[in-house]
Amino acid sequence: MQEYLLKTYSRKNVLFKKGDGIWLYSDSGDKFLDCASGIAVNILGHCNKKLVKVLTEQAQNLWHTSNLYRVENQEKLAKLLVDHTFADRVFFTNSGTEAIECAIKMARVYHSKLNQERHEIISFDGCFHGRSMAAISTSNSDKMKEGFGPLIPGCKSLGFNDRDALCQNITNKTAAVIIEPIQGEGGIRSFSSEILKLIRSLCDDTGALLIIDEVQSGLGRSGKLFAHEWFNLKPDIMTIAKGIGGGFPLGACLSTENASIGMVKGKHGSTYGGNPLACAVGCEVMNNVLEKGFLENVRKISGYFSQKMLRLISEFPSVFEELRGSGLMLGLKTKIENTSFTNEAYKQNLLLAPASDNVVRILPPLNITKKEVDYVVELLSKTAQRLEN
Ligand SMILES: Cc1ncc(COP(=O)(O)O)c(C=O)c1O
Repeated sequence: MQEYLLKTYSRKNVLFKKGDGIWLYSDSGDKFLDCASGIAVNILGHCNKKLVKVLTEQAQNLWHTSNLYRVENQEKLAKLLVDHTFADRVFFTNSGTEAIECAIKMARVYHSKLNQERHEIISFDGCFHGRSMAAISTSNSDKMKEGFGPLIPGCKSLGFNDRDALCQNITNKTAAVIIEPIQGEGGIRSFSSEILKLIRSLCDDTGALLIIDEVQSGLGRSGKLFAHEWFNLKPDIMTIAKGIGGGFPLGACLSTENASIGMVKGKHGSTYGGNPLACAVGCEVMNNVLEKGFLENVRKISGYFSQKMLRLISEFPSVFEELRGSGLMLGLKTKIENTSFTNEAYKQNLLLAPASDNVVRILPPLNITKKEVDYVVELLSKTAQRLEN
């Protein structure tokens, strides 16, 4: 019945009926190994028992009341986030794009509050911050922007890791710099530690705010709670989504007290943002990721996985170019068309996510076992065998 849907997606012709851990089961009885996790979302696997429990318990008590009233789970989750990050304040959303929208509005209204005429938003080639008008305005992808103009003014996208461009363009006209420390859709590309340091110091010198987009890299995906921690980077504003809901729609914009000065009563809002169901799940996800040994295990299993993939790269030099990423946010740059690889893997019942720069993303649940890793590598190897020349 796809004829009733907008034609914006090119979907695989499969209907999943059930999920369990890393596995997905289709209506025709096929079993798939899910190494895409709904694009870095199901960080604790499909239908994680603890998440199902808190969600169903919450569903029996209270679904929704709106932000006209206090929401207990929202306050609990905000405290958890504040306790474990740089942030003092949290605004909840239903998606990453909405978190980005909040971040950009927050940055502009901050300067307006200080009576400063500065509205420029600096972003980077290959970035992806979502599909709203503000988010696509930060993109350098013509495909994403074409036909939607006029876009929001004042957005400038700079070259990746380009020092000179940074020094020339981050000025006292800049409202904010927005950056994914590790680009996801852009092809699992990490900014260098020096460049991130330079951006922070240019922001400090000029008074621009630094927005770190951790929608994809956050919640343990990179092996740290947030990827910017690898670089000792301090954001003014941070956006999260995907992993925090473990599959339930939830996002958030976090900020320092200072960065939030313009976001006063009536300046922003959301009917559903921070709803009791979403935040019940969010608290449980956070508690699991914060459990002793969880992040250490992500790093350990990442090391094991990476070793095996490096071996695979040397075995199939005509298929693979390099391994990228951190934690379980991994990317295989391929020499062949990346979608040929993901399509062939799909035939082996392995789900992967393509990204720009000819990269195949490997984004398993963060609690993937060694045995499951072995099986993924076996399927990657089978796929490569079929495609090598
Ligand atoms: C880094 C980043 N920011 C923002 C978004 C947009 O999030 P959403 O699709 O939840 O609106 C995405 C989605 O892929 C993302 O990867």
